[in-house]
Amino acid sequence: MSRFKNQVAFISGGADGLGKGIAALIASEGGKVALLDSNPFKLEQTESEFKLAGYEVMTIVADVTSEQSIVSAYEEVGKKYGQIHIMVNCAGIVGPTSTKITDYSTEDFDRLYQVNQRGTFLMTKYAVKAMEPFGYGRILLIASMAGKEGNPGMIGYSASKAAVIGIVKSIGKEYATAGITINGLAPAVIKTAMNADTDPRQLEYMVAKIPMGRLGEIDEVAKLSAWIVSEECTFTTGFLFDISGGRATY
Ligand SMILES: NC(=O)c1ccc[n+]([C@@H]2O[C@H](COP(=O)([O-])OP(=O)(O)OC[C@H]3O[C@@H](n4cnc5c(N)ncnc54)[C@H](O)[C@@H]3O)[C@@H](O)[C@H]2O)c1
Repeated sequence: MSRFKNQVAFISGGADGLGKGIAALIASEGGKVALLDSNPFKLEQTESEFKLAGYEVMTIVADVTSEQSIVSAYEEVGKKYGQIHIMVNCAGIVGPTSTKITDYSTEDFDRLYQVNQRGTFLMTKYAVKAMEPFGYGRILLIASMAGKEGNPGMIGYSASKAAVIGIVKSIGKEYATAGITINGLAPAVIKTAMNADTDPRQLEYMVAKIPMGRLGEIDEVAKLSAWIVSEECTFTTGFLFDISGGRATY
């Protein structure tokens, strides 16, 4: 398939997990992918894997909380590939789990805000700036079921993901006639490194809420995400897609 031939996708958190899976699918269908991540080791490993598979890839080590780094990253991608057609924001952290608000440190809460909310804001702001002159763009922001429903014991994560949903809804409307769609995706628990250190009781709580009774797989998220950022998705913006094994039916 060559759904993404001549298209460029900029993906944050692209070194691992959902970002890597989405990038691999887009690249396997002809897209050029620019992967941004704060983890240089994982990024290098992913770049080697992609090159071995014959994918067109560039990588940028950067932290999504730094505005200057994000500005430079967009310049770098633009210089190498020209137009940026797709941006998927996957960089994110989970922070404390099984922790009530009274034990949740303000430093942890601030860090969750910085990475998940401010990072999403910056990646989206400069994506729109890059896409607007071309009158075309597909932006996908990875939120979470936690932002939709609120997970107890995860106040920082739940609040920052609710903010991502707010960004999707407001910016989707701002650019509805500009040829740029901005959508979100709210996964339930997906099997990635992010959950490796999650308290087993917290995981049990989250899986128990999924009617299919299992974790989601990276390739399931990649397939839906790729459709959302493809040229086929034309009449949906400001919308939060669901991928939750039946957990969310609204
Ligand atoms: N895995 C799940 O169960 C699940 C469920 C719902 C939502 N999500 C969301 O999906 C997104 C991807 O999660 P994942 O499971 O693939 O996690 P992951 O930990 O496997 O991958 C996240 C990547 O983001 C990078 N990253 C973290 N902080 C960064 C920063 N400040 N700047 C740049 N890069 C940074 C990490 O180095 C890592 O490579 C996250 O936003 C997460 O909240 C995941």
